[in-house]
Amino acid sequence: MTASERSPGEGEDVAWSDEVEHLIAAADVEAPLGAQIAEWLTAEPAGRVADIGCGPGAMTLALLARSPDAQVDAVDGEPMMLDAARRCLTAAGLDAQVEFRLGDLDSLELAEAAYDLVWVGSVVHHLPDQQSGVDRLAALLRPGGRLALGEGGLPLRCLPYDLGIGRPGLEARLSAAQAAWFNALRAAMPGAVRAPAGWTTLLGSAGLVAPVTGRSCLRCQRRSRTRRGRTCSPTSRRCKAGTESCPGSMTRTGRRCDGCPIATPPRTWRAETTPSC
Ligand SMILES: C[S@@+](CC[C@H](N)C(=O)[O-])C[C@H]1O[C@@H](n2cnc3c(N)ncnc32)[C@H](O)[C@@H]1O
Repeated sequence: MTASERSPGEGEDVAWSDEVEHLIAAADVEAPLGAQIAEWLTAEPAGRVADIGCGPGAMTLALLARSPDAQVDAVDGEPMMLDAARRCLTAAGLDAQVEFRLGDLDSLELAEAAYDLVWVGSVVHHLPDQQSGVDRLAALLRPGGRLALGEGGLPLRCLPYDLGIGRPGLEARLSAAQAAWFNALRAAMPGAVRAPAGWTTLLGSAGLVAPVTGRSCLRCQRRSRTRRGRTCSPTSRRCKAGTESCPGSMTRTGRRCDGCPIATPPRTWRAETTPSC
């Protein structure tokens, strides 16, 4: 059964067809960070690329913008996501370089040992068995190829310690709620297997060789809202969640942030984890 055939409660944790518009909006907010990640990933030539769980195609677009000669297989288990990705790449005039493939990570029909670069953004934590998912992804790489996972990391800390609404503070409560939600999501997955190790360990266990590294960056929260309840946008001066280290957002003083100050400079690597951006 593919991701598109499942419905929530039947082994699928999220109704992805309901998330298309949300992910399109998020891609807009996160475009500067996507461009930064694409720059890291294309520091070495990437001729044949796979974007697994491509969603509406933002990273496929960013990768092709940096690597115009690449050929990308954009794969997703949700047909509506794939349609959105096709629209995005067609609008950019880059669809000829992309093969849009409906497919589930559980039963990938991609050639093994064939890809220079495999990018997988915010997908693996949705798999019941994350290690076997990483194993399948690693098997797609040609010798010397690179696998990059985009996944979440430490929670954002930006609110004042005391907002006057009691202890624990709002940020600690939001983090606790997020952790509870994620625990429940994993616990409800049929066949969920614990992966009590960091991403670099999972990548190493998949047979990828050093340097297996992680890279950190701050990310504008997808659902951040202004005090009046408006969604944060890259051009909104009202984005109170934005900080100067939150790429693409406007700071309170209206300055646009273009960088990711805690990002490390590009290094040579064979596999890389990048927190979801
Ligand atoms: C959180 S979204 C991330 C989309 C995109 N990579 C990004 O970073 O914006 C997860 C995507 O993975 C797809 N997906 C989830 N589970 C999948 C699976 N088992 N096989 C293929 N695609 C899957 C969903 O349809 C969705 O488009």
